[in-house]
Amino acid sequence: MKDIVPPPPPIVRNQFETIRELFSKHVVPTYGRFDIALTHGTGSHLFDVNGKRYLDLGGGIAVCALGHAHPAITEALLEQSRKLVHSSNYYYHEPQGRLAQALVNLIGPGKVFFCNSGAEANEGLFKLARKFGHDEGRFEIISTINSFHGRTLAGISATGQEKIKKSFEPMVPGFRQVPYNDLDAMRAAISPATAAILIEGIQGEGGVTPATPDYLLGLRQLCDEKKLLLLMDGVQCGHFRTGRFQSFQRILEDVPGGEQFLPDGISMAKSLGGGFPMGAFWVRAPYADLLSAGTHGTTYGGSPLACAVALKILEVIERENLETNARETGEFLKSNLRALARKYPGVVKSARGLGLMLGMELVPDIPNLPGDSNKVQAARFASLLHAAGLLTIPAGAQMLRLLPALNLSRAEAEEGGRIIESVVAKLAA
Ligand SMILES: Cc1ncc(COP(=O)(O)O)c(C=O)c1O
Repeated sequence: MKDIVPPPPPIVRNQFETIRELFSKHVVPTYGRFDIALTHGTGSHLFDVNGKRYLDLGGGIAVCALGHAHPAITEALLEQSRKLVHSSNYYYHEPQGRLAQALVNLIGPGKVFFCNSGAEANEGLFKLARKFGHDEGRFEIISTINSFHGRTLAGISATGQEKIKKSFEPMVPGFRQVPYNDLDAMRAAISPATAAILIEGIQGEGGVTPATPDYLLGLRQLCDEKKLLLLMDGVQCGHFRTGRFQSFQRILEDVPGGEQFLPDGISMAKSLGGGFPMGAFWVRAPYADLLSAGTHGTTYGGSPLACAVALKILEVIERENLETNARETGEFLKSNLRALARKYPGVVKSARGLGLMLGMELVPDIPNLPGDSNKVQAARFASLLHAAGLLTIPAGAQMLRLLPALNLSRAEAEEGGRIIESVVAKLAA
């Protein structure tokens, strides 16, 4: 029989050019990848095929909650895989029930559905909204400009970025976008067909923009008044990244009336599985049984293996008090970035975000920024950081996102700050 996975000759094993060639010949080219091929990681560090070490402040786009190769995750995977990896949702198993209970305890009274990704979690919320409005002929979901809600057809229809929708028209009907943090625009957009409003607590791909407390409280009031579901996409900004489990809990802490705030649905993914593909959505109690038996499903959702990993991550976060670490280390990093904006105003425009969801905004048209001028500044800047041993995540043309592991240490944050300053200082010179 022909080899399905032919072994590479030893001489080319793990050579960058050979790996890139495999991709260019055999992988659909949907991603603009950087010229780095990774082999392994430990904690907040990653290593490439040449043995170069990187500090990972991108966290696999807010996924690697405990960093790389965390022994507790390895242990949970091993232990559960010896017992039961998958069973289908025809049957009950303890890890899914316990994880749902934990998520409800962290958010509020309601129930949880498990799936495999952020886009799939949002699809579930879209179906919830359609079911909610169905008997009254309401189906429309209003989301916001600059939002990102995933790459499925309904996900890109909900997303407020034209570049994501381009060439895939017509969009799924019933999605419209209005400016973010603009309550009047949202109120004006509501029609008799509207069933729900969907926002991110902090826009991620759109450039790390947190919702204001007034916006959140105002949307809740608006939804109650117009009998709409308030849906929040917590895929990127959730899971303790801001220092609280959900971003709205952080944004509204110390705000009068904030502790009572609850949306009607929340999507989750990314850090929930720490790298094991997993998604979920929570539904507030009055609507928790709307999606009844037979109305929604997914083969792999909430498998024993995925849930065992997610439970272990929550256990480590609680035991090691990583929500406080996200808050404190995030504040430290943000103040470093803000100091850079003051010291090098010709390169860094601003820094914003909450906890370990941070954005550093570059000044447009930095003179002498090396790299391919067809590429946006953020990507070219990220390449300079790579050369200096640091991974970040570009967002749009001018933003670099820092979405590191929640257990990033102060020393690692200092190392990151030093690397960023070394690159910024050279450009400013
Ligand atoms: C806010 C938000 N929603 C949804 C998604 C889609 O998640 P996934 O890529 O797991 O489908 C993302 C991914 O970046 C996201 O940031």
